[in-house]
Amino acid sequence: MKLHYWDAMSEFEDKVQQALANPRNQGEMKDADSVGTVGSPECGDMLRMWLKFKEKDGKKVIDRASFQAFGCQTAIAVASMATELLKGKTAEEARHLSANDLSGDLGALPPMKIHCGQLVEGALRNALGGDVARVVGDSAPTLSADMQKHPKGGIRIVPLSDREN
Ligand code: FES
Repeated sequence: MKLHYWDAMSEFEDKVQQALANPRNQGEMKDADSVGTVGSPECGDMLRMWLKFKEKDGKKVIDRASFQAFGCQTAIAVASMATELLKGKTAEEARHLSANDLSGDLGALPPMKIHCGQLVEGALRNALGGDVARVVGDSAPTLSADMQKHPKGGIRIVPLSDREN
């Protein structure tokens, strides 16, 4: 049976909420081998992903992945799924994953949410694109610190609870 658009959206939103109830692998990874950051020109959201590799059966595979996001709920849910899904993948395998692949159990992204998944895909590709052996170390800036160094004089981050209605 084919789902109508709004039924499909509602099912997708339910899955996003389930993922957000228990987001996986959030936060900076101090001992990461590689880090990638991307910002969406469409909405201004930003996402950073850290990767840690290990040797397995003679291959270099992703051992752990983590993320930080200043983004919408969909981007956070996809990043949560993606960081689980990346475990055990080689850099080459990971490089071929699309936004829809990375969304895992959330299923195919609705058209208006594709750029949210592409934010995750972009951060992953950025992390894989350079020298994957690059050591980030303790001095790596956080995503928040990066946003505050914005060339136009900084971005003020306001917690939702402090926002005036
Ligand atoms: S609305 Fe910006 S990443 Fe989803």
